[in-house]
Amino acid sequence: MSSRTLNIIHFSDLHFGRIQNQVLVDLEKYLEENQDHLNLVILTGDLTQRAKKDQFIAAKDFLNKIKVPVFVVPGNHDVPLYNLFLRFFSPYSKFRKYMGNLISNYYEDEHIAVFGLWTVNPFKVEAGRISQRDILAVTEKFKSVPSHKIKILAGHHPIATYEDPKIKKLFEKLIELKPDFLMWGHDHQSSIQHFDETKKMLPIMMASGTTVSSRVRAEANSFNFISIVDCDVVIKTMVHVNGDGQGFFAEKEFRSSLRAH
Ligand SMILES: [Fe+2]
Ligand SMILES: [Fe+2]
Repeated sequence: MSSRTLNIIHFSDLHFGRIQNQVLVDLEKYLEENQDHLNLVILTGDLTQRAKKDQFIAAKDFLNKIKVPVFVVPGNHDVPLYNLFLRFFSPYSKFRKYMGNLISNYYEDEHIAVFGLWTVNPFKVEAGRISQRDILAVTEKFKSVPSHKIKILAGHHPIATYEDPKIKKLFEKLIELKPDFLMWGHDHQSSIQHFDETKKMLPIMMASGTTVSSRVRAEANSFNFISIVDCDVVIKTMVHVNGDGQGFFAEKEFRSSLRAH
């Protein structure tokens, strides 16, 4: 196996329309200072507060400044809430229109393969969904990915935590495809898990908090910084701190190892 060093940023729930300007400035500064060492940025949805044109444009302007590939999936706030016709029949039309050149379905380079799970349920946007069709699509894509590459699934809703038996069953099928990471947002709360209660290895399942919005809940604005050296993984939860020397700083560090590839 050839040696590899990869750095990936996972952030989420920007909510343009409800951002905190200073936090955005600090995030831009962090990205600028670190982008020479970055391979990829993954954004797990809720780019906007209300799927409005000016909010999408502001989000796109921000994302266009990032000099490494940006992978982005839509969240429930990126589909129309009040225009029911559009929400039911073409929920992602605005997202597609404004995100245009960014990568949102599938990305693959010499080290990484990322599949985007578009989890918004237009009939009940707070609750996400996955379908058999998603499983087939991931299976199809991942079957040609060489085993040495890191496989990532990125979606908005925390489907791994759902109790619905139908979703649980589909989730099991996703796990059988052996992704290395499963990333999501939506809850505005960061978390990382690699093993279940029986000590069975799962994908590294991780959530990012809201990175720049004022919609913070139990924790400050945050994102995840993932470093992979061969099979060793270090994930830093980067949390925004106000006041003297403000900016994003590593608050927690999670260490684990991937299956040998
Ligand atoms: Fe959100
Ligand atoms: Fe959300």
